[in-house]
Formats: sequence, C-alpha cells, structure tokens
Amino acid sequence: MIFVTGGAGFIGSNFVLEWLARTDEPIANLDKLTYAGNLQSLASAANDPRHVFVKGDIGDAELVGRLLATYRPRAVINFAAESHVDRSIHGPEEFIQTNIVGTFRLLEALRDYYRPLPDAEKSAFRFLHVSTDEVYGSLERGDAPFREDNPYQPNSPYSATKAASDHLVRAYHHTYGLPVLTTNCSNNYGPYHFPEKLIPLCIHNALAGKPLPIYGDGEQIRDWLYVQDHCSAIRRVLEAGQIGECYNIGGWNELTNLTVVNTVCSILDDLKPRDDGLSYASQLTFVEDRLGHDRRYAIDATKLSADLGWRPSETFDTGIRKTIQWNLDNLDWVKNVTSGAYQHWVDKQYGTS
Ligand code: NAD
Ligand code: TYD
Repeated sequence: MIFVTGGAGFIGSNFVLEWLARTDEPIANLDKLTYAGNLQSLASAANDPRHVFVKGDIGDAELVGRLLATYRPRAVINFAAESHVDRSIHGPEEFIQTNIVGTFRLLEALRDYYRPLPDAEKSAFRFLHVSTDEVYGSLERGDAPFREDNPYQPNSPYSATKAASDHLVRAYHHTYGLPVLTTNCSNNYGPYHFPEKLIPLCIHNALAGKPLPIYGDGEQIRDWLYVQDHCSAIRRVLEAGQIGECYNIGGWNELTNLTVVNTVCSILDDLKPRDDGLSYASQLTFVEDRLGHDRRYAIDATKLSADLGWRPSETFDTGIRKTIQWNLDNLDWVKNVTSGAYQHWVDKQYGTS
C-alpha cells in the first residue's frame, strides 16, 4: 500500500480520491485535521475498505513509526503542512512546528523504517515530499521561470519553512541514503479548496454578496495549475522519478490576480447571475497589500515533461469552469468548512464577518 500524510487537505484529498478511483492499491492516510483538514472532503471514501484514515500528527514519531510498521507502505507521500501565507505572517509558530519539526520527525521515522527493510522492499521504496515554487522567491516580469537549479530565496515564513523542509529531505537522501523525490509546484485550484485562498474565497464571497479583496494593485502573477494535474504529476514522479531529484510542476498559466478574479466573476455572471443584473466584478475591492508580497511566480516544468512525459490536461479556462461549477454543486461542503474557526480567521484578516 501507499501512505499519505495531510490527505484530508485540499491537494491530499484530491490525491486520495483519485488514487482510489484509478488503482486497487490501498492507501493509509495520516492527518491531524487542523482547520484545513476536512473529512467531508473524503466522504465518498468513508466506506471504502482500501482507505485507512488515522487522525494524528506527522511530528508524533512514535505514532508514525507504529503506522509504518503496521502498514509497511512501498511509498510515503508528504502533503501535510501549514499552507497559507497570510496565516504564516500572522503567526509563524505552527509553520515551524509542522513544516520543519514535523517533517524532521517524519524523516526520522522513515529512516528507522527504511534501514532494516529487505533488499527488494528497500529498492522499491520511495518518499515523495510535496513542496512549492514559493521556495525560489519572487520573479520580476521578464525573468525566466523557475528551474530546479534556481537558488532558494524564500520570502515568507511559509516559504521559508517549506524551504527548510526541502533541505532536510535532500540531506536525508545525501547523508542516509533515503530514496527521496521532491516536487515543487505552482499555485493549485480546484475542488475541495479551502475558501481562505484567492480563488475559492472569491467564489464564496461573490455568492455571499461580500467584497472580493484584491491585495495591493492586483498585478501580482501566479502560475495556476488544476489540482488534478498536480496529482497526475505526483503519480508520474512517484512512478518514474529519479531518486534524489527535484521536479518543478506548473501549468504554463501565468495570470495576474486581477485577471483571475475577473475571470471568476464573468463565469459566475453566466452560471449564476446576480439578482440585480450587475456583474460580480462590482464587488472587487482593493485592500492593503500583504506584507512582503511576492510579485511573480512562474514554473519551467521542462524537466518533468522532457524526462517523464508529463503534461497538464486542463487549461486555466477549462479548469476554472470546472472549479466554479464544483463550488456551485457543493455549497454544503463550503458551508460546513466555513463555520467557527473560519469566521474567526476572516474577522482577523479582513476585519469583517
Ligand atoms: P492544506 O492546508 O489544504 O492541507 C494541509 C493538510 O495537512 C490538512 O489536511 C491538515 O489537517 C494537515 N496537517 C497540517 N499539519 C499537520 C500535521 N502536523 N500532521 C498531520 N497533518 C497535518 O494544504 P494543500 O493546499 O493541500 O497543500 C498540500 C501540500 O502541497 C503542502 O505541503 C503545500 O505546501 C504544498 N503545495 C500547495 C500548493 C497550493 O497551491 N495549495 C501549491 C504547491 C505546493
Ligand atoms: P493565495 O491563494 O493565498 O496563494 P499564494 O499566496 O500562496 O500565492 O494568494 C494568491 C494570490 O492572491 C497572492 O498574490 C495573494 C493574492 N490574494 C489577494 O489579492 N486577496 C486575497 O484575499 C487572498 C487570499 C490572496
């Protein structure tokens, strides 16, 4: 079987559901169920005997060791992290704990598990660490997109902790021979995306008649990838990636935040027009910029496409339509995940409720 961490979060839950749909191989799933982890995202797998869910922390080495010994996975994929830049600016502590200390403890448990494995299991074993393009820092317009050999220049507490975890993963390969793979992906969007991030926040606020907050001038650029394309890239790297290598994953979809939000508004105008006939774009509101806001991210995914033959299936136009339709079809999911803790965050970040 395979073992994932953080499989109740946005990307992890998409990965688990797709894994169950595509293969017969069982999957164990360890997740702490922070505010960002939702078992409702895994509701369709609740009665599937191939999916074993365990609530727990990647930093609990004793628990992780016991689970590894019990399930003897052929691969471990680490999705678990604190993932929201704005939260890392308000309070970096949890980011240090999970992204750095948690990854370190997970690596220690993996080292203990891997060392005594019989040769055949040893040579098949992989640890895939899911990381972000934000470790490379910020680009100016006209700069070449990030390649795997770009220097690490993280700018936010979030990206700094992800960078630290990437370095630990690298060191555990170099020093102890742990068979690792690292992926650095651009911004994802799609089903089960927690509505604190730009795209689901705007869909949710638009429908609720609330402001759509644009930080600064809205000209910041991100490279958007549909979440299921990220999952297909992870499956491909797990299957054929070279041990010790890093692979950048991106969608060749560089867009400014203003373009993204205006696109969301115009699709919503088609699918669910406002009662008063105005466009949802009338709800756009420029707000104070994020501290240390990175201007542009862009991924050069040539290595992944040339070496492993991966390509994304969705363009931004097709992926964003699916995402908006999914949100319209799953208003109950959004309602359930946006209860108490979420409201507290919205009040703190935007001063509204
Ligand atoms: P998310 O915040 O939606 O989910 C994170 C999950 O990890 C949650 O289910 C949470 O409960 C769990 N978790 C947190 N701390 C834990 C701990 N100590 N032990 C066990 N579980 C814990 O994040 P996501 O967007 O799904 O991101 C998953 C991974 O992908 C992260 O490592 C993130 O850095 C990376 N990534 C995300 C994006 C993106 O656009 N969302 C892009 C590139 C890379
Ligand atoms: P986000 O979804 O938080 O991802 P990241 O910061 O990891 O790229 O934000 C995407 C972009 O949208 C980023 O440039 C910040 C911006 N943004 C806003 O303008 N308003 C918002 O309310 C949020 C959450 C983000």
